[in-house]
Amino acid sequence: MKTIIEPFKIKSVEPIKFTTFEERKKALEVASNNTFLIPAEDVLIDLLTDSGTSAMSSLQWAGIMKGDESYAGARSFFTFENAVKKITGMKHIIPTHQGRAAEKILFSILGGPGKYFPNNTHFDTTRANIEFTGAVAEDYLVEVGSRPEVKADFKGNMDIERLEEFMVKRKRENIPLCMITITNNSGGGQPVSMQNIRDVREICTKYSVPFFIDACRFAENSYFIKKREKGFENKSVLEIAQEIFSYADGVTMSAKKDALANIGGFLALNDDSLAIKCRNLLIVTEGFPTYGGLAGRDLEAVAQGLEEIVDENYLEYRIRSVEYLGDKLTNAGVPIIEPPGGHAIYIDAKRFTPHIPSEQYPGQSIVCELYLQGGIRGVEIGSVMFGKYNIDGKLISPSMELVRLAIPRRVYTQSHIDFVAEVVIEVYNNRHNLKGYEITYEAPILRHFTAKFSKLK
Ligand code: F0G
Repeated sequence: MKTIIEPFKIKSVEPIKFTTFEERKKALEVASNNTFLIPAEDVLIDLLTDSGTSAMSSLQWAGIMKGDESYAGARSFFTFENAVKKITGMKHIIPTHQGRAAEKILFSILGGPGKYFPNNTHFDTTRANIEFTGAVAEDYLVEVGSRPEVKADFKGNMDIERLEEFMVKRKRENIPLCMITITNNSGGGQPVSMQNIRDVREICTKYSVPFFIDACRFAENSYFIKKREKGFENKSVLEIAQEIFSYADGVTMSAKKDALANIGGFLALNDDSLAIKCRNLLIVTEGFPTYGGLAGRDLEAVAQGLEEIVDENYLEYRIRSVEYLGDKLTNAGVPIIEPPGGHAIYIDAKRFTPHIPSEQYPGQSIVCELYLQGGIRGVEIGSVMFGKYNIDGKLISPSMELVRLAIPRRVYTQSHIDFVAEVVIEVYNNRHNLKGYEITYEAPILRHFTAKFSKLK
């Protein structure tokens, strides 16, 4: 018999607070209908993000005690460096306090006006770090990647033809690097195939453009390759990950995802002169190159997490538990991005609430209702997060209106997830009563974090 259960037992627990409907109604009011502004204590099941929210293992906690806090050359750095090198094979390993710090350093050096960066889909911080330098971020996702209802194995793939057109149009001297995000977070946590990674490598070689990987969820992506791509069924996840990175010139990573740590990240590079520039900037913004904005104990937790994440019993449980929620929802008719991705279920708000137009933020309406009915916190990924205005002040919506339910790693049990499914299905069955929202306050950038909303009559 095949066993797919949680490959761990629970040693330490944290209580979660039960609230009443009236209390949640009040909390939403106080937070101006923005669930980012609700205190986490008032959330029953927190699916806002899978980032930094993992439960650490006993060995990771032991690592925390072992941490060497020396300013320079700490033992914990070498443990960390070895763990990252084992997976990525990169020559230079530069620790940062999280993923966006690695992005900030890389793009501050390579970006600037007149520069162009392609990606399958830039994550919001990656895009922000590029645009902040005056450079342009462009997405080249395969067409099927933005069609939630179509099932395909590798909906995170890059559109190779359009990428090549981009290379010709923008000219190689204006393209400091090409990046691919595995898995594709902004497009449903969908994986990228090994073939696609090889094809992107080939184009990058042809046009002499360095190839980088945003590796936040590399282990989940590698597991999908093992399960779905011919020729990889008998390879280990570690071997698959090593092959992925063998095609790259550099890596940025947030260790808050597939390194099972609560904080941390790194930049890994092969280019000696770029590594010198990055380390020099690191010293200004993060810290000495052997700790880079982290404590020695954090380096230990990341190193141990990287060992644990490639465990195939873990990955089988992980991917299956996300799919389990997906199955329950699709069986009840709830529209989601299919097939489910690696770290989250993405509800397709356009089909969930077709009576609410994009200008009235259908995803936000679902997010508020999930909290109100069940104390569940998800996040809108649609017109609130990515909406822009044209010169007449009219909203330009992204192609998809989504609600992400991200599953923290090793945190919730099957009965928590059963409860999530019950709440989502109940909200879906009463979807005709949902109303749109309007924004009453917004910040000029990354507005979703602090915006205020009011419910339309
Ligand atoms: N790249 C991707 C693909 C990400 O998903 C994230 C973070 C980052 C870069 C930045 O890493 O947070 O450590 O600075 N994603 C989180 C999320 C925040 O909720 O999806 P960071």
